[in-house]
Amino acid sequence: MTVQELVASLTLEEKAGLCSGADFWHTKAVERLGIPAIKVSDGPHGLRTQKEGSANPNDSIEAVCFPAGCATAASFDPALTRRMGAALGREARASGVQILLGPAVNIKRSPLCGRNFEYYSEDPYLAGELAAGFIDGVQSEGVGTSIKHFAANDQETRRLSCNSRIDERTLHEIYLPAFETAVKKAQPWTVMCSYNRVNGTYASENEFLLTDMLRNAWGFDGFVMSDWGAVNDRVKGVAAGLELEMPGSGGVNDRKLVAAVQAGTLDEAVLDRAVTRILNIVLRAADLARQPAVFDRTADHRLAAELAKQSGVLLRNLGALPLRKGQKVVYIGAYADRPRYQGGGSSHVNTAAVSAMDAAVMNDRRVTYVEGFPADRDQRDEEEFLRAVTAAEDADVAVIFAGLPDSFESEGGDRKHMRLPDCQNNLIARVAAVQKNTVVVLHTGAPVECPWADDVSSVLCMYLAGEGVGEAEDALLWGEANPCGRLPETWPLRLEDTPCYLDFPGDGVTADYREGVYVGYRWYDARKMPVRWPFGHGLSYTGYVYRDAALSADTMAADGSVTVRVTVKNSGAMAGAEVVQLYVTDATGTPVPGGRVPQALRGFQKVFLEPGEEQEITFTLTPRDLSRYSAEIHDWYAAPGKYEVRIGHSSRDIRATLKLHYAGSAALPLAVDETTPLGVLLADERTAPIIRAAMQANAKAAENGGGDGLMPPEAMAQMLDGLTIRNMINFGGPEAEANLLPMLDALKKAVE
Ligand code: BGC
Repeated sequence: MTVQELVASLTLEEKAGLCSGADFWHTKAVERLGIPAIKVSDGPHGLRTQKEGSANPNDSIEAVCFPAGCATAASFDPALTRRMGAALGREARASGVQILLGPAVNIKRSPLCGRNFEYYSEDPYLAGELAAGFIDGVQSEGVGTSIKHFAANDQETRRLSCNSRIDERTLHEIYLPAFETAVKKAQPWTVMCSYNRVNGTYASENEFLLTDMLRNAWGFDGFVMSDWGAVNDRVKGVAAGLELEMPGSGGVNDRKLVAAVQAGTLDEAVLDRAVTRILNIVLRAADLARQPAVFDRTADHRLAAELAKQSGVLLRNLGALPLRKGQKVVYIGAYADRPRYQGGGSSHVNTAAVSAMDAAVMNDRRVTYVEGFPADRDQRDEEEFLRAVTAAEDADVAVIFAGLPDSFESEGGDRKHMRLPDCQNNLIARVAAVQKNTVVVLHTGAPVECPWADDVSSVLCMYLAGEGVGEAEDALLWGEANPCGRLPETWPLRLEDTPCYLDFPGDGVTADYREGVYVGYRWYDARKMPVRWPFGHGLSYTGYVYRDAALSADTMAADGSVTVRVTVKNSGAMAGAEVVQLYVTDATGTPVPGGRVPQALRGFQKVFLEPGEEQEITFTLTPRDLSRYSAEIHDWYAAPGKYEVRIGHSSRDIRATLKLHYAGSAALPLAVDETTPLGVLLADERTAPIIRAAMQANAKAAENGGGDGLMPPEAMAQMLDGLTIRNMINFGGPEAEANLLPMLDALKKAVE
């Protein structure tokens, strides 16, 4: 039977039933028609699926824990998230799972969000590209994905009800593009709507999000499922585009759907459409699930360690790294022995990790270990401290394995501050005071304040690197792998510097996104603020030289594109990978409501280079890359004029700046009346000639106004900029009115 025939054969009750889960992880089957049930499971960085036969939804099988989103994002490598996705797809299929609940792409608005460790970035372009890679990988193995949490679910505080209040431009420029890119590039089978409200309407019944954007604007053709328990008004939800309720409300909401159809408040065709969308995917998934699945746990563990290696970010290095054979090294801190490598909540994978100490033993390193501080709490033990400081003094190098305890960072709650446990900060400071070769290795899902950063030799950020963390650390610390991760988010100096410091997490009812588009580096750059480490930053044991940056043309047409080329060379003695980053700056000078951001990431490529090897990298830019979202026309818009294309090693290490002219001619609508300031009329090509001509004719009058010494010419110019036709009539009386009203008509005509 075709899906259409199946839908026609279902009773109203069966159709309503198919729109909600049978239990925590399964959809419903309809045996009489041969409709199978499918199983969904978390996601995103490992398989969390309930053991067969267990009654507890959280009783999960053992599975491979890959690096969490915070870490894989630091790889800046969609090919890597694709490999990880493919491995997860194989594991899912081998374990009888048809849809993996990931990737998670919410924007890191504040470093405090308790779930940032699952998310990719503060930048929507980076998050979207990595998500597309992940989805493509999972789905290449015949398993679906559920990109989540759609949308603007950027905090855990009151996440079930909080209203994210966001202006139109910010929503489109910052909070939607990661989903847009993933949907357009990789067609996820499903999307998971979030718990929260967006501009007053629950995401689970938000027609603007679920239908206008997702389906109509981006072409999504799978089904939307609710986050677990996120349904508010089930009938509204189905009408708005939420197809599957998870985990299912034991029939409560199904009955509401039936009643609404019977009462005529929900068109049965709308319910049919929802069932059709669900069945399209369910049948495809069940069909693909029949193919044999090969899954090699050992190979996947190796892959997890490999991904962790590719994701570690060397934040600072005055020379203590890499460690050298023969050096006397002490590892300090409980995370050397019991690393923190994943976060708490729905993404928590049932597994065990290899620690740095395990790896040191396996690789026969000359390393001793002192616990120094515990892994699970902020507790200072003076004897342990003394042991650690003495061992550090005696050694050639002290490596401190620091991090956030589980209780500091998890799904369900936001952090209250951005600090490591005090005991760790204290011990790092004390060790650094006696040992100049102090290295700090960080195990956190998000930035922490690093008050000791200038006092230690090296800092290696592993984020939450999955079960292969210890092997990756060993290779990176001892120079058997070359660090090539880059920060997918700014590390601020202090919490008080962060863009939404005054508004996060809001008053418990509303989260006001008052910082607008100034999220992450867009904020720190606009304010020219010093940061601890900027977006895109990451060091290496080798060096990279950029040359011959060029554009294929100086001008981009409205329907054209431009190719950017640059050659990168590994100038050092060790093989490594550089992440070439491309930022675009709008230098047109046209006023931008909501403010102009200094630069935005529009491209990146990771390139592996042997010592001395060089390679030419190319990027293609289109008008969309120059655009901002305009709330005036409800669309993307690039003003004609000057742009800069910046190519660099990080957002604050730009190696080449190229000038580009955009020859697009579409002008934004301009409403002109007697209150429009002269400055606005002068800045617009359509009205400027009329004003200029009038000003010339009245040059004498203007001179009189400015020449009496009342105010300096600069102030006079500013005052004129703000002057309106109404003001001029007020000052000039009937004569001015007679001249200015015809001019107003001419201006209005010019912008029609
Ligand atoms: C989380 C989702 C997760 C779901 C199922 C929810 O609480 O927000 O990310 O996929 O539970 O475990």
